[in-house]
Amino acid sequence: MCGIVGYIGKKQAFDVVINGLQRLEYRGYDSAGLVLIQNETFLMKKTKGKVSDLREISQDLDKTAQMGIGHTRWATHGVPNDVNSHPHLSNSGELVIVHNGIIENYSAIKTMLTEKGYHFVSDTDTEVLVNLIEFMQKSSNLSITDAVRFALNEVIGAYAICVVDKKEADKIVVGRLGSPLAIGMGKDEFYIASDASPFVEFTKEAVYLDDGEMATITKEGVDVRKIADNLQVEPLVQQLQFDLDQIEKGGYDHFMLKEIFEQPKSILDTMRGRLLSSEGKIKMAGIFDHRNRILKSNRIIIIACGTSWHAGLIGEYLIEELARIPVEVEYASEFRYRNPVIYPTDIVIAISQSGETADSLAAIKMAKEAGAFIYGICNVVGSSIARISDAGSYTHAGPEIGVASTKAFTAQVTVLTMIALELGKQTGELSNEKFHKHLVEMEMLPKQVETVLKLDKEIQEIALAYKDATNCLYLGRGYNFPVALEGALKLKEISYIHAEGYPAAEMKHGPIALIDENLPVVIIATKGHYEKVVSNVQEIKSRKGKVIAIVNPGDTEVRAIADHCIEVPAVEEFLSPIINTIPLQLLSYYLAVLRGANVDQPRNLAKSVTVE
Ligand code: G6P
Repeated sequence: MCGIVGYIGKKQAFDVVINGLQRLEYRGYDSAGLVLIQNETFLMKKTKGKVSDLREISQDLDKTAQMGIGHTRWATHGVPNDVNSHPHLSNSGELVIVHNGIIENYSAIKTMLTEKGYHFVSDTDTEVLVNLIEFMQKSSNLSITDAVRFALNEVIGAYAICVVDKKEADKIVVGRLGSPLAIGMGKDEFYIASDASPFVEFTKEAVYLDDGEMATITKEGVDVRKIADNLQVEPLVQQLQFDLDQIEKGGYDHFMLKEIFEQPKSILDTMRGRLLSSEGKIKMAGIFDHRNRILKSNRIIIIACGTSWHAGLIGEYLIEELARIPVEVEYASEFRYRNPVIYPTDIVIAISQSGETADSLAAIKMAKEAGAFIYGICNVVGSSIARISDAGSYTHAGPEIGVASTKAFTAQVTVLTMIALELGKQTGELSNEKFHKHLVEMEMLPKQVETVLKLDKEIQEIALAYKDATNCLYLGRGYNFPVALEGALKLKEISYIHAEGYPAAEMKHGPIALIDENLPVVIIATKGHYEKVVSNVQEIKSRKGKVIAIVNPGDTEVRAIADHCIEVPAVEEFLSPIINTIPLQLLSYYLAVLRGANVDQPRNLAKSVTVE
């Protein structure tokens, strides 16, 4: 949450910073601000609202400066308003900061600083941090780098920060703990950002700071140190693996729609080089290299948040059915605080699109300390979770910008399906013949997803009939229960229609009370538990509920009674979550568009939740 950008070099910093903030807006969009640094003066603009509002109020700004930092905010401390927007100045006006994260002990520090005569204009923890840096600097006569280091050693919490001192206006000091920070390496110019998207058009080389590291960046170079002991660190320069066009809308109205339509490719990319049906093989080094440890374990624990947690639930169904290894699926935020039993023999699969979700990261660290083996499934290459995992598989879905996760979800399920198949082969649960058959079936997924995407117009029309709905129920059984959960989550995230996902059979234990002519029920009625789902559809119809059913070709029973049917290709049940998710994504998308909602930036949400 919150995006930060910085630039020092030979270009006009304004353009780099404002365009960079626009790319990072998926991280937060309550307010935005920037400061340009020129001739030892700060030219600052900040405002409640979006980066476009910041651009608007910056029209009169002198834009010749070649150094600047900026911020797009997802509020934690203090309501989103102009005053609470970043950057924040220190009391003397000599230091300026942008910050992503939370300073947990800010209240004690604020009290101490207030006693020393400091005053605060905002409600933010960030203003406390910049004044702590100033206090350290003034009381011990320190350079800005040392003052930042001393201050960071006093704070508890999470941060990625950029700090500039007017008196040393040739450098930006940055630091990281818990919140991501990347440095783009140019020639006599450097970029700073919460992820590489703001600078990928300028350089393909990036250094990702590790937790507990800081850097002093001048036009001449980058000096990385450990915050704890000032030890110099040799920065590891990584090659960026994506291009600018991957993070632009490419003619689509929204990133979400683009990402939904990218799924045939993203699923193919996720399977590429791994699913080798002609050789009768799944090639996943992470699983193969650690197969002995995995097979010896008594259980797998899947940890995730949000949509990734739904992928985890599908993973549970897949691994238990295909490999017969017991699986538990945990919300990271619950797992980390409920004193769970963790055995050193446990395998923990951590699923995260961003690889930065604070609760997932903390849960993994806890499991790791207890001796469990951590297998990361992340989309963002080089992300924190990917780095602390013992092994793992990237999803290769490409950058996902829309806040509501779509292609990352189907890529996660694709990886989990391949893992389940490979483990099934290793445990001997799947015969060679069955394994091979499943590979061939799975290989067809991208084409089948293409077929589903052709239903776009049809789904748009169905959405029209329900745009004024206030509630919606999603039902599914077996593999498609998590799909129902995910369908409901997508709808509420972007259209603000209240939606609940339920196992179809559980409808009788509560949600049935809600059913009347005003309640649309989306029900997954593809093969697998079909007869039972037909009964559920009848129960809904006899209470006048409206039914939108996902069905397979040849269906007659559901067609005869449902209000709308969306026909998707018939696939083996273990592959059905991927296929059946796509129409639900489209339905949510069109409902949100029809209701005039901001699809890519739904209110109050952020793509990457780096605070707990
Ligand atoms: C946020 C996002 C969701 C995402 C969840 C977990 O809530 O809005 O789309 O599923 O975080 O994020 P992760 O990056 O760990 O998958």
